Amino acid sequence: MRKVTGRLNSAGLVRMLLVVLEVCEGGITSSYVRNDDLSLDMPLDSDVFQVPPGYNAPQQVHITQGDHEGRGVIVSWVTPEEPGSSTVLYWAENNTNLKNQAQGTLLTYHYFNYTSGYIHHCTIHNLEFDTKYYYEVGIGNTTRQFWFTTPPGVGPDVAYTFGLIGDLGQTHDSNRTLTHYELNPTKGQTVLFVGDLSYADDYPFHDNNRWDTWGRFTERNAAYQPWIWTAGNHEIDFVPELGESKPFKPYTNRYFVPYEASHSTSPLWYSIKRASAYIIVLSSYSAYGKYTPQYKWLEKELPKVNRTETPWLIVLMHSPLYNSYAHHYMEGESMRVMYEQWFVKYKVDIIFAGHVHAYERSERISNIAYNIVNGLCSPVSDQSAPVYITIGDGGNLEGLVTEMTEPQPSYSAFREASFGHGIFDIKNRSHAFFSWHRNQDGYAVEADSLWLKNRYWKSLEEQPLATI
Ligand SMILES: *[C@@H]1O[C@H](CO)[C@@H](O)[C@H](O)[C@H]1NC(C)=O
Ligand SMILES: *[C@@H]1O[C@H](CO)[C@@H](O)[C@H](O)[C@H]1NC(C)=O
Ligand SMILES: *[C@@H]1O[C@H](CO)[C@@H](O)[C@H](O)[C@H]1NC(C)=O
Ligand SMILES: *[C@@H]1O[C@H](CO)[C@@H](O)[C@H](O)[C@H]1NC(C)=O
Ligand SMILES: *[C@@H]1O[C@H](CO)[C@@H](O)[C@H](O)[C@H]1NC(C)=O
Ligand SMILES: *[C@@H]1O[C@H](CO)[C@@H](O)[C@H](O)[C@H]1NC(C)=O
Ligand SMILES: [Fe+2]
Repeated sequence: MRKVTGRLNSAGLVRMLLVVLEVCEGGITSSYVRNDDLSLDMPLDSDVFQVPPGYNAPQQVHITQGDHEGRGVIVSWVTPEEPGSSTVLYWAENNTNLKNQAQGTLLTYHYFNYTSGYIHHCTIHNLEFDTKYYYEVGIGNTTRQFWFTTPPGVGPDVAYTFGLIGDLGQTHDSNRTLTHYELNPTKGQTVLFVGDLSYADDYPFHDNNRWDTWGRFTERNAAYQPWIWTAGNHEIDFVPELGESKPFKPYTNRYFVPYEASHSTSPLWYSIKRASAYIIVLSSYSAYGKYTPQYKWLEKELPKVNRTETPWLIVLMHSPLYNSYAHHYMEGESMRVMYEQWFVKYKVDIIFAGHVHAYERSERISNIAYNIVNGLCSPVSDQSAPVYITIGDGGNLEGLVTEMTEPQPSYSAFREASFGHGIFDIKNRSHAFFSWHRNQDGYAVEADSLWLKNRYWKSLEEQPLATI
């Protein structure tokens, strides 16, 4: 099942295969050593940050799913000089005569001494599935046109390809990660973003201008395919000393998500269905203990997932539950204690997290037997458990983490400190292919990969007929 490839000559390949054979019981720590020069943020006058021409031209255009099923899209953008219009004009590719309009809303926010531009959010409802739409924002001279393709209708054998990006930031490495995602021959149709967007908070006074540059940098992709947002610690922006004591202020003003469609009470946790996937987004930095809003929502949410309709159950969060790097080691432990038993009970297929600036893939393991007195507190192999992927390797200004917990714990299947992105390619209800692509390689190279068998459908196959 496991495949390790990379830039290897045949001798290297043989050596790598031997390594794989030798460490079958434990995991692999890749021997690939990348240049670990710290990458700086791209300068303000970089091409990727250019303001589009024209008076009050819409900038930072980005889209995300706008409902629970995939027939809605939220379009967001910023006009810098004046409010302009919050209307989106849109039409199906095969029907240019019928132009529709959707009316959005406008907001601005202040952060310390920064005042945002005019931020527009407009939800388009009731689109046709599997259809290419063009859309236009702005008024007068300065309209800008983009397009997106809606997903196929929800169903068990609908093939669909997700990209995975985390902890992106806005360095030259960030730009490489995005370019590698764009040029990957396996075309991602939607990005699952696992948190830590702009890293504006690494600047003095959390300079929110770096939120704007990040919006302009990512527009080239996020205006054309939805990015499904997860909040990370760099979205908290909690600085009471500056008078900023409302957590997640810039993030929640700039990045709207369809949380009400999944009966959530907060944009920080929600769910969507898309093609054959059911995606649950959680917040590592909001209360998740018993009786909290997030806990109660998740408790009701998991039993709702109909695996006949959406076989692939995916969870996104920022802080990983299993991580064997030294940095952020055990930070996900308290959420693991609360939720891991549910993830196993409901046979979650895969959990993606960021936070740790490196890549790691786990075995299928769980650690839920412990009850304080029985001493059973080590992860064990568990075929009902998810695979955990850490993909916080987008390339932000804080650099890579290279220091690892030694020896490699048995739950860790593969780990490597390089920048890159992932692809989760769903083929049908039973099979999906995950691959990880590092930035140093050619666009088609899979540095780590794995076939996943759907947990729900696999367990049905394995049950004796009488009990189905
Ligand atoms: C456009 O395509 C959609 C979906 O394929 C179809 O339902 C609709 O009838 C088409 N409209 C026109 C005008 O061809
Ligand atoms: C905000 O305050 C900082 C610190 O005093 C200052 O350097 C910066 O120029 C100010 N920015 C604006 C827009 O006033
Ligand atoms: C619109 O564009 C024309 C031609 O480029 C220019 O002459 C005019 O000043 C523009 N109007 C505004 C309001 O920007
Ligand atoms: C970012 O990447 C794009 C696409 O590869 C390239 O055109 C652009 O010049 C890069 N910009 C910087 C500042 O590296
Ligand atoms: C689950 O989805 C299938 C396929 O859409 C449907 O036939 C079935 O009734 C659903 N089950 C429940 C409990 O809603
Ligand atoms: C599902 O996809 C896998 C991988 O492409 C393939 O081997 C398998 O035959 C497919 N199953 C069905 C029922 O089509
Ligand atoms: Fe983080």
